[in-house]
Amino acid sequence: MALIKDILQTMEYGPSPESNDHIIAWLGQHEVGFGHFIDGKFTDPAVGASFEVTNPANGAALARVALGTADDVDRAVAAAARAFKSWSKLSGHERARHLYALARHIQKRDRFLAVLESMDNGKPIRESRDIDIPLVARHFYHHAGWAELIESEMPGHQPVGVCGQIIPWNFPLLMLAWKIAPALAAGNTVVLKPAEQTPLTALAFAEICREAGLPDGVVNIVTGEGETGAALVGHPGVGKIAFTGSTEVGRIIRRATAGSGKKLSLELGGKSPFIVFDDADLDSAVEGLVDAIWFNQGEVCCAGSRLLVQEGIAEKLYAKLRARMQTLRVGDPLDKSTDIGAVVSTEQLERIGSLVAKGKQEGADVFQPSIPMPAKGCFFLPTLMTGVAPASTVATVEIFGPVLVAMTFRTPDEAVALANNTRFGLAASVWSENINRSLDVAARIKAGVVWINATNLFDAAAGFGGYRESGFGREGGREGLYEYLVPDHGKPAKGKQAARPVLNAAPSSMTAVAVSSDAIDRTAKLYVGGKQARPDSGYSYAVVSPAGKTAGQAGLGNRKDIRNAVEAAAMAGNWGAATAHNRAQILYYIAENLSARAAEFEARLRSMTGASAKDAATEVAASIRRTFFYAGFADKHDGAVHSTKSRHVTLAMNEPFGIMGLVCPDEAPLLGFVSLVMPTLAAGNRVIAVPSARYPLAATDFYQLLDTSDVPAGVVSIVTGETSGLARMLAEHDEVAALWDFGSAGGTGPVETASAGNLKPVWGGGMRDWASPDSQGREFLRRATQVKNIWVPYGE
Ligand code: NAI
Ligand code: MG
Repeated sequence: MALIKDILQTMEYGPSPESNDHIIAWLGQHEVGFGHFIDGKFTDPAVGASFEVTNPANGAALARVALGTADDVDRAVAAAARAFKSWSKLSGHERARHLYALARHIQKRDRFLAVLESMDNGKPIRESRDIDIPLVARHFYHHAGWAELIESEMPGHQPVGVCGQIIPWNFPLLMLAWKIAPALAAGNTVVLKPAEQTPLTALAFAEICREAGLPDGVVNIVTGEGETGAALVGHPGVGKIAFTGSTEVGRIIRRATAGSGKKLSLELGGKSPFIVFDDADLDSAVEGLVDAIWFNQGEVCCAGSRLLVQEGIAEKLYAKLRARMQTLRVGDPLDKSTDIGAVVSTEQLERIGSLVAKGKQEGADVFQPSIPMPAKGCFFLPTLMTGVAPASTVATVEIFGPVLVAMTFRTPDEAVALANNTRFGLAASVWSENINRSLDVAARIKAGVVWINATNLFDAAAGFGGYRESGFGREGGREGLYEYLVPDHGKPAKGKQAARPVLNAAPSSMTAVAVSSDAIDRTAKLYVGGKQARPDSGYSYAVVSPAGKTAGQAGLGNRKDIRNAVEAAAMAGNWGAATAHNRAQILYYIAENLSARAAEFEARLRSMTGASAKDAATEVAASIRRTFFYAGFADKHDGAVHSTKSRHVTLAMNEPFGIMGLVCPDEAPLLGFVSLVMPTLAAGNRVIAVPSARYPLAATDFYQLLDTSDVPAGVVSIVTGETSGLARMLAEHDEVAALWDFGSAGGTGPVETASAGNLKPVWGGGMRDWASPDSQGREFLRRATQVKNIWVPYGE
């Protein structure tokens, strides 16, 4: 008999399986298969094609599920549209009660849902039980609160309508909750398509909706593959698409929704850095790494998959990490002592394997612990790759598996440079005992979420979402709710954008003429890097007033000019780092100078547009007021401290995008320009503005104000020319991080398509009344910033 002493020595784990009897029984009741959940009822599973859902840990078939067609999507959207009429009319309180009921029912069935999730996805029961499902309930509780509060907290907003939601397989029920809870709270109805690999908890949730008495049609679930998702994306009855998944499909969806007027939020991939400084608590950092990359088999969009470690401690950290890896337990997801379960599918397993092979080929040292592995099923050993070159495949692409790649750095600057050396920008984790250093690095990393001395923390009260090719939009928190609301004044006509009159097409007079020396005093040049610049083309065009008189000449800008402007903006990076007070002062200065030259600008508007003296004076006065307004707001677009977990404060910082493109409207050549430039500057962005092609001269006169108001060189560049073409060049430019297009003739469709490259957010649309109070305010500041959530350890 083994002595207690010996047992304590080895501390072998015995099997500790979670029972799945009631899941087997439930699946048995659905032996014939699952239909779609449409209008509060399950469709007949025997009708139409279906596919099999398997357990990746053992290959066992779990269920057959309907393969959604365009017809199924159509019926689901129709049901959601019918339900929207009454659901959106309910009081916030009534909707709150429904969300609260959903939360209660989820909690009552938490064990059932956790086991089902682990069987469907392969994730360890410890995680589905302790992380996924509690967070699911938390999201519904949190948003029950929002349902109650939206009316008072977000006045002047309304729901979008029917939301199409497409989710991946890595956190099936949690992603459902992140999508459905805010949508319903805001008064929308939804059609959700779960991932083909993991549809079962969504179907269980459909039953819960029925049980909890949710009105028919408010939630509809259509199962299926990519094509089913594409049908949902393309459906004209859908007002918003929310997608989580691969960057590749994100791009397809960006293009597919371009010009449709659909709201869009994309939560895509990542290659998030996990930065360890030499003063970090290394043992904590090792546990952090376990949670960063071996949580959920590394199938986490914000996984800390790129370890950046300060050179002097690298070997020490790797040694600790290898020792820890030796104690990880890979195996049965339903065993309560399993650390790493099964990867979701054989395709995913092969993908991970081939990427690791590629890393080896590219010269990385690959370490895998010698630990027991299940004989069958989709399992992959935890893997550490060191000696990885920053430009190698494994250091740049998302592996989406339990594979950590490591690189070293010497200085904090180098750490930041490496951290940002990626097309993604979802999350980052910073480990240091030095608070100054941690917060400094957190501020400089381009990512939507930064955890200090922690990793993979989530909460319904905090926004989650990416910078750059990790997508746009936030889920969770106050910032996430706006994704499901539209301002009362800005609701686009159903399915399409309000058309912009042809007014803004290239004026017929826009024939290029060479910039001749005798015309030089009448030719407004471009303004790039704080200086007037001749257009690269060497051509200008005549600006003709409605009465047919030539009001002046403007430069015909081209791609080279846009590139120069972006380059100049890139060098003016300290604008965003200037204090908000500084920016306010400069905006006041601009307003003051505009005021001093009001008569000149009025005369310009009159000669260029034929406006009456009164109208011209009104537009100039409104432009001065608007500049004052944003000067006043520059230091008041505050972030927030979200009430998340205890022992953390979560700082929601409003950060500028960096370089923004602004395409200005014709309706109000001066006020429109000011209405776009001032909020973006106030928020700390550098801008490249394309003035109205028809009436560019009020904007070009603005150079002189910029020159005399201490605006640093490169912070504002102005490129005149053919609007739609320049807009597209801005959309295509990788360094332009966000684009507002209120000027292209055909609406924002073409620039939305062109923006799919770096997935920049695009905002804009049809004609609006620029003099109205709706054309200024928080909406503009919100669109000029992205929220970075920084989780800082705090308190007891
Ligand atoms: P995916 O992006 O193809 O699938 C995600 C969801 O989109 C699924 O519901 C799928 O049916 C749907 N979908 C696919 N094509 C669509 C289309 N054309 N229109 C509308 N919906 C469509 O991701 P997949 O193929 O499962 O995984 C591939 C890689 O993507 C992974 O290896 C990983 O790197 C990344 N990924 C990232 C996720 C994240 O959370 N950021 C989640 C899942 C995958
Ligand atoms: Mg795919």
